[in-house]
Amino acid sequence: MKLYIDDANPEEIRRLWTLYPADGVTTNPSILSREGSDPRSTLNQIRQIIGSEAELFVQVLADEADEIVLEAETIAGALGGRTVVKIPSVPAGFQAMKALKAKGIVTCGTAVYTPMQAYLAAKSGAAYVAPYLNRIDNMGFDGVRIVKQIQDILTRGKYGAEVLAASFKNSQQVLELCEYGIGAATCAPAILDGFVKNAAIDAAVAAFTADFEKAVGKGKTMKSILG
Ligand code: E4P
Repeated sequence: MKLYIDDANPEEIRRLWTLYPADGVTTNPSILSREGSDPRSTLNQIRQIIGSEAELFVQVLADEADEIVLEAETIAGALGGRTVVKIPSVPAGFQAMKALKAKGIVTCGTAVYTPMQAYLAAKSGAAYVAPYLNRIDNMGFDGVRIVKQIQDILTRGKYGAEVLAASFKNSQQVLELCEYGIGAATCAPAILDGFVKNAAIDAAVAAFTADFEKAVGKGKTMKSILG
């Protein structure tokens, strides 16, 4: 499963990018707006942190197909590297995805709440489709089940699109999809940190250090003993 950081705070992204084996960063207009009024500076900083080989997802705001295509070209040109343009999975969005596929611009069908939206985005040439798991849960449906259903539709239909599951509330939801073989997940910083937030893990690591220091002295490591 590919793993993305769903955030736009440069300091947080630098921290998480350094610690974890992430494949890129996903943003949306709401996430960017939390960082202040200059999204261009924020996006350029993120691109610098993750480098040109990692995927950076940026969403369009236009709602007419022609304008979406022009905006997508601007995004891809300005941010370079492996930039993925997120496009809402609505009729004008599908029209734009088809045109952008022909132009070689990589897209992600976003704001996916239903399997048929995912099907249409994938068939329109999107490389990723992003179902919003937690928001689906909040509407009274089973988000995990619907994301699995979307994964099955894409696998069986061989559309060449991957599921990018988004909008998680906890790491258990990510685990269930990881176990199912989902293509990719994007997680907010707290969810990512939550993968390994466990008192038993911290206690086990602390006990190894304490035992070793009892034998050879405080602050000693294998480097100081063997080096
Ligand atoms: C991906 O970038 C999605 O836009 C995002 O995960 C949505 O998350 P939310 O439902 O917490 O706003």
